[in-house]
Amino acid sequence: MTKPVVIVTRKWPEQVEARLQQDYEVKLNTDDHAMTITELQQAMREADAVLPTVTDVISAEVVNVEGRRAKILGNFGVGFNHIDIEAAKAAGVTVTNTPEVLTDCTADIAMLLFLMSARRAAEGDRHVRNRQWMGWRPTHMLGSKVTGKTLGLIGMGRIAQALARKAHHGFAMNIIYNDPFPPVAETISDLQATLCASAEDVLQQADFVSLHCPGGKATYHLLNAERIGLMKPTAHLINTARGDVVDTDALVDALTNAKIAGAGLDVLEGEPAVNQALLGLDNVTLLPHLGSATEETRVAMGSRVLDNLKAFFNGEQIPDKV
Ligand code: DGY
Repeated sequence: MTKPVVIVTRKWPEQVEARLQQDYEVKLNTDDHAMTITELQQAMREADAVLPTVTDVISAEVVNVEGRRAKILGNFGVGFNHIDIEAAKAAGVTVTNTPEVLTDCTADIAMLLFLMSARRAAEGDRHVRNRQWMGWRPTHMLGSKVTGKTLGLIGMGRIAQALARKAHHGFAMNIIYNDPFPPVAETISDLQATLCASAEDVLQQADFVSLHCPGGKATYHLLNAERIGLMKPTAHLINTARGDVVDTDALVDALTNAKIAGAGLDVLEGEPAVNQALLGLDNVTLLPHLGSATEETRVAMGSRVLDNLKAFFNGEQIPDKV
């Protein structure tokens, strides 16, 4: 029996690439370059399954390429705002993602960012490396305490809940949130979490605001100048969701003019490009989209794609169909 042809758009952990090769005729991206639209269109023509990831723009132009052979897009990642889902649906192309397996690691990065932002960790590291440190003194580099403060979550899905558990049980934080689909009562009671009527309410009350909404048109610049303006001047904004949920120019203005105390960003608008103004600010911590970047999680994400592919080609129920 001929094996289905599978194209992987970026380099994956070796052990999952090896497993993939056992069951499929696989074309790997050995030099790990970001594929162009033309290359993605060619992949859709050549393969039965294309396995893209968050850096690949799978627009209607790619989905509807003439002579398309691919019937499934097995996305390596939980977010799928880079795929035109409507176009895929209309064309009968199945789309899958990789939920759950990256929940804890992404929540860890959010936690890391708000600790770094509150305690000025990146700034402190630069200070030592640049040989500016003159020694301990009572008023040197004071940040703000995290334990016991209020964490405001905009979006209360799996990652937000995992972060809330760490923050509430580990740092005695008070949890407030806004989400049109609140978690189950058991979770709310475990976290003693308070539902706010709007994102604006969360912004006004929280000491730390963490964003957990999906990317896409509906959340584009959700954090604009007006909403950032509702935050306390002592508050910190953490983004591990998608870069364009925040209006970067408005954030730069807020950070420059002490409208908020700090920000921690794992995702950037237009990444990997970086807004130059951010680079000059000490009160922002910048990470290169590391949320799921652990050995364990990236292997688990690959395994999840494999499970989805197997179910698809065996005609079984697909676990993570979008
Ligand atoms: C995702 O999966 O959507 C993340 O942004 C990358 O891990």
